[in-house]
Amino acid sequence: MVEPARGASERSALLVSEALIAELAAADLVVIDTPMHNFTVPSALKAWIDHVVRPSCTFRITPAGKVGLLRDRPVLVVVTCGGRFAGPGAQDDFLAPYFRYVLGTIGISSVELLRLEGLGRGAAQAEQALDDARRWIETKVPTGRI
Ligand SMILES: Cc1cc2nc3c(=O)[nH]c(=O)nc-3n(C[C@H](O)[C@H](O)[C@H](O)COP(=O)(O)O)c2cc1C
Repeated sequence: MVEPARGASERSALLVSEALIAELAAADLVVIDTPMHNFTVPSALKAWIDHVVRPSCTFRITPAGKVGLLRDRPVLVVVTCGGRFAGPGAQDDFLAPYFRYVLGTIGISSVELLRLEGLGRGAAQAEQALDDARRWIETKVPTGRI
């Protein structure tokens, strides 16, 4: 395949992508904490996704669909949300299904998410959420790994 001619900005974007893919490929465990923005991933996390989900690098396209090229590994995601997902004013969650789907595309299916809700409702709620997140991470990750 003939490589297209690339300008300096494209080459530097590819270097970032290659570094992020190498970091992900080398990881035995991935821990991500992220806010929910407008019901899904914030733009910074979307940019990371767009750098690591690359045809012929982390997935390939076949007649039967996309096939992931990375080995599976645990990914723990803590999602902080100002709002709630049940009761009056409940919102929908497009983050969790999207994130599972897009990582599944590159071969990573062991994704676990903890969603912390109602963080826009004062300090007590935020403290409780922090405790919940610490306990959850402690149950998932052997001591000393993060
Ligand atoms: C641009 C923007 C969009 C947001 N959209 C949502 C949303 O769709 N649902 C939600 O529950 N919270 C939303 N929030 C609130 C954040 O999720 C909440 O502030 C964050 O998780 C708390 O973490 P932080 O203190 O790091 O901001 C939004 C916040 C911002 C700044």
